[in-house]
Amino acid sequence: MKLLWYAMCSLFIAQTEVKGCIYDGFKVYELTSKIHSSALDLYRMVKNESQYVLLSGRGTIVMVHPEAQAEFLHLLENNQWEHRVLNHDVGLDLSNAFETNRNLTNLYPYKGHAGTDRYYTFDEINRYIEDLAQQYPSRVFVKTVGKSYEGRTMKTIRITNGDGRAKKNVILMDGGIHAREWIAHAAVLYAIGELSNNYQKHAQLLQDYDWVILPVVNPDGYEFTQLSADNRFWRKTRQPINESCIGTDGNRNFDFHWNETGAYWDPCSTIYPGPKAFSEPETIVVRDLIQSLAGRGKMYLTLHSYGQYILYPYGYTNALPVTWRDLEEVARAGANAIMEATGTRYKVGCSGSSIYPIAGASDDYAFNAGFPISFTMELPPGGANKFDPPASDIDRLVKEAWVGIEAMARKVIQKYPLKDSTVL
Ligand SMILES: *[C@@H]1O[C@H](CO)[C@@H](O)[C@H](O)[C@H]1NC(C)=O
Ligand SMILES: *[C@@H]1O[C@H](CO)[C@@H](O)[C@H](O)[C@H]1NC(C)=O
Ligand SMILES: *[C@@H]1O[C@H](CO)[C@@H](O)[C@H](O)[C@H]1NC(C)=O
Ligand SMILES: *[C@@H]1O[C@H](CO)[C@@H](O)[C@H](O)[C@H]1NC(C)=O
Ligand SMILES: [Zn+2]
Repeated sequence: MKLLWYAMCSLFIAQTEVKGCIYDGFKVYELTSKIHSSALDLYRMVKNESQYVLLSGRGTIVMVHPEAQAEFLHLLENNQWEHRVLNHDVGLDLSNAFETNRNLTNLYPYKGHAGTDRYYTFDEINRYIEDLAQQYPSRVFVKTVGKSYEGRTMKTIRITNGDGRAKKNVILMDGGIHAREWIAHAAVLYAIGELSNNYQKHAQLLQDYDWVILPVVNPDGYEFTQLSADNRFWRKTRQPINESCIGTDGNRNFDFHWNETGAYWDPCSTIYPGPKAFSEPETIVVRDLIQSLAGRGKMYLTLHSYGQYILYPYGYTNALPVTWRDLEEVARAGANAIMEATGTRYKVGCSGSSIYPIAGASDDYAFNAGFPISFTMELPPGGANKFDPPASDIDRLVKEAWVGIEAMARKVIQKYPLKDSTVL
């Protein structure tokens, strides 16, 4: 198990001009079993753990090196696991996806509007929010809130109805703390577009509430995953830990029961919680946003993929907070709205018991800081590797997510009306 998580970064070290993709010939397997719920024990039995890359927390979705596939199939058979091949050649698939996105970038160059036709780069996303602020100077405001480890400028967009009233309640939203979850960045971008461009339709959402949105929490990681197909599955930040291991799992790095559970105390692991809480400049940015808005902040919403979940605190334990009914009510409003609109079923529940306990996540931190509603929304899987919905799926997935976000916002606005309105 220990070596298992090394695969990602050891593969990324010697990363120069490689012909093809390092994942050429890798297959993705989905495992099911009548008797086991976790596959992690399975990987203790493999000969060379670095040939396995886990794509899900319980190890039931795994990417396997071509040289290890025969051994793996034997192992499955001997341990009562069924399998299905989700992807017969990860490298080929990734190369195609990258070429498609390159083609789409040529077809739809950024011209002041980021649509749902392709995945945008970090710079384009920053340009988009700047352009919106210029287009709607009385309603939309961009603010620099920090720098990533590699020096990228991190900006929030605050969307208001332009009436100039101060001290409204706030919905805080972010996305992309995990680099490879591109559909999360896309969904945040869509929400920004809806609230900014379509604001008359959403007047109620902006009446007594401002929306503060950090579209890309982990810009270094996001840029890294877009650099080449070899990096597509990078999840963490990019600050080196030691000479051979890079990056921290941002969503294990918050200072609330930090490093207690759901992380791996190994700097090469994809779920390394960092050498200490808030070791990453990017999580510090989110912390400061949360702290500066606590009091006014009524909902914190962080977008991830994949899973089709709306998850609420706590993550660090499977105990429920005393206000869990409020969380459940708002989350249900989102899940039900999505179900009605598209038939997609988002599961609702507390993180710690719905997936597995995770400490140091941003939703727990925001909840503890005073946001009465705090959610991790896991968008649906897509593409043969689950993490890469093809560009042609973006439109459907982000519109569907927005239906849920809008419904949750309405419920929050109803439950937490503005108290000390400073109307003159
Ligand atoms: C494990 O697999 C990797 C990738 O195929 C290979 O480079 C490495 O030499 C193997 N290690 C051992 C101990 O066999
Ligand atoms: C990308 O565009 C090139 C040139 O038009 C075309 O030959 C190629 O098939 C396209 N690739 C994909 C994956 O769509
Ligand atoms: C970095 O950390 C890993 C995991 O603990 C360890 O195996 C490796 O030796 C370390 N490398 C250096 C250069 O300290
Ligand atoms: C983090 O937790 C691990 C146990 O999982 C422990 O070995 C390690 O010392 C902890 N690190 C810190 C800095 O507390
Ligand atoms: Zn995630």
